[in-house]
Amino acid sequence: MAKLPKIEFASLDQAPGDVLVVLSGEGGSVPEGLPGAMREAIANAARIAKFKGKRLATVDLIAPSGVAADRLLVVGTHAKEPATEEDFLKLGGTIAAKAKGTVTIRCETKEGPLAPADAARMASGATLRAYEFDLYKSKKSKGDDEEEKEEKEGDDEPATLTFAVADPDGARAAFAAEEAIAAGTMLARDLVNEPANILGPVEYADRIKELEAHGIDVEILGEDEMRALKMHALLGVSQGSPRPPRLVIMRWNGAAEGEQPVAFVGKGVVFDTGGISIKPAGGMEDMKGDMGGSAAVVGLMRALAGRKAKVNAIGIVGLVENAVDGAAQRPGDIVTAMSGTTIEVLNTDAEGRLVLADALWYCQDRFKPQFMVNLATLTGAIIVALGNHHAGLFSNNDELAERLSAAGKVSGEKLWRLPLSREYDKMIEGKFADIKNIGGGRAAGSITAAQFLQRFVNDVPWAHLDIAGTAMGSPSNEYNQSWASGFGVRLLDRLVADHYQSA
Ligand code: BES
Ligand code: MN
Ligand code: ZN
Repeated sequence: MAKLPKIEFASLDQAPGDVLVVLSGEGGSVPEGLPGAMREAIANAARIAKFKGKRLATVDLIAPSGVAADRLLVVGTHAKEPATEEDFLKLGGTIAAKAKGTVTIRCETKEGPLAPADAARMASGATLRAYEFDLYKSKKSKGDDEEEKEEKEGDDEPATLTFAVADPDGARAAFAAEEAIAAGTMLARDLVNEPANILGPVEYADRIKELEAHGIDVEILGEDEMRALKMHALLGVSQGSPRPPRLVIMRWNGAAEGEQPVAFVGKGVVFDTGGISIKPAGGMEDMKGDMGGSAAVVGLMRALAGRKAKVNAIGIVGLVENAVDGAAQRPGDIVTAMSGTTIEVLNTDAEGRLVLADALWYCQDRFKPQFMVNLATLTGAIIVALGNHHAGLFSNNDELAERLSAAGKVSGEKLWRLPLSREYDKMIEGKFADIKNIGGGRAAGSITAAQFLQRFVNDVPWAHLDIAGTAMGSPSNEYNQSWASGFGVRLLDRLVADHYQSA
C-alpha cells in the first residue's frame, strides 16, 4: 500500500533532521531547554500567527540560523480536557501531514517529557495517517503532466520520523504494541476498501488464513459443513450468489489453556445488493464495505496476536455475498436457523442479521465464551440516529456495555447505547414462523435488528455494535484519510487490554 513512515526513537538530545517538531503548551509555551534563538523565533512566529498552543494548532517557520534544521513545526498540545489516547494519535497524524523528509519530534512540553506510551501513540497516529489504499492506482497514469507526476512522486517518499524522548527503550517497547494495533487497523481498512470482485467469501477466507503466520489458528468451514450444522439462516442469504460462503474461526491463545475465551463475531457480507428486495442503484457501490464488522474482528485478532496479548480470544466471521439470481431467496421464504428458531424472510435486504444469527449461536454453543461482542454494518437506521460519530451499542449486560463505552471514549471510537426491551422484541414476532427478519415499517429499525440478534444469544453477556455509520465513508480525520476507517479494532483492543488480560 502507501509508503508508511519509518519510525525511530532516540534520546532528547538527538540532532534534528530537515524538520524539527516542537510541542507547545498553554499560551504558546515551549520547553525551557530549547536554545534562546529558537525560543525567540518561535515566540515571534506565534505572536504573528496568534498561536496560543491550542491542541493540534500549528505554526510552521524557517529555522533561525544556528539551528541544525531547515524548518521548525510548532504543534499545540493545550486543551481544557486532559489528552486521551486518541488525542495523541491526532497529534501524530497532524505532524505526519505537515512534516516531510527527515523529521525529529521533540516529545516534551514545558511541563516535562511525554510518557513513553503517549510518544508511541503519536508514532502510531503518524503511521495511520499515511495509510492510503492505492493498490489499483497505476502510478504511470497517462494523463498526468510531468510536473504533477514529479510532485506526486516526491510526496510518495516515506518520511523518517524520529521521536526524541526521555526514555527511548520504554517508547520502543510501547510502540511494539501500538504498531500491532495499527497493523490490525490497516488490515481492517484494506479488507473494507477492497472491491467485491477481488474479495469474495473464498478469497477473503484465504486472506484470513494468512494470519497463521502471526500465530493465529484459522479454521474454515465451507458450504457442506455449514449445511451439516444446519446454518440455514446464513446459507439462505448466500444462495443467490454463485460464490460459496465461508465461516472462518480464528483463535488466539495468549493465556493459559482452559482460561475461558472472549469472543468477537463479525458480519462479512462481501457485497450487499439487497437480494430480491434489491437496493436502489445510487450509492450501492458502498455495499462492498458491508463486511466491515468482520474486518474489525480480523484486524482485532491481528492486533492481539501482534502484541502477544495474554488473553484467549475467538474471532468468528460469516462470509457471504447477498446477490440475486434465479436461486436467490424470496421474500416470504421461511428458514430454520441452527438454533432451531424459524424465520420468515420478509425482506432479503435484512440479511446481516440472518448471517449473524447462525454465527452467534455457533460461537456460544461451541466456545462458551466469557462474553460475545458482534460487529456489523447492520442498519441504515443507525446512520439516521447517530450519523458518523458514534456506533450503536446494544447489550444484555450493563457491565459489558459500560466497559465498551469507556473504551470508546479513550480510543475515540465512540459508542452510544440504545435500548432493548420486550416491546421492541414483540415487533419481530412472526406470522407464519417464530420471528420475522424486519420489524415492519421504519420505526426503531436499528433496535428491531438488535432484538433479532438477541434471539440467538442465551445467557452469555453479549453486545452488538452497529457500525454502519462508522466503518466507512465517515469524514476523514487527523489519523484517517481512507474511506474505510478500521473502526472497532482500537476500541476492542482497549476493552481487552483494560479488563480481560491475565497478568
Ligand atoms: N448493509 C445494510 C445496512 C447498511 C446501510 C450498511 C447503509 C451501511 C450503509 C443492511 O443489510 C440493510 O440493507 N439493512 C436494511 C434493513 C431493512 C431492510 C430492514 C436497511 O437498513 O435499510
Ligand atoms: Mn442489506
Ligand atoms: Zn447488509
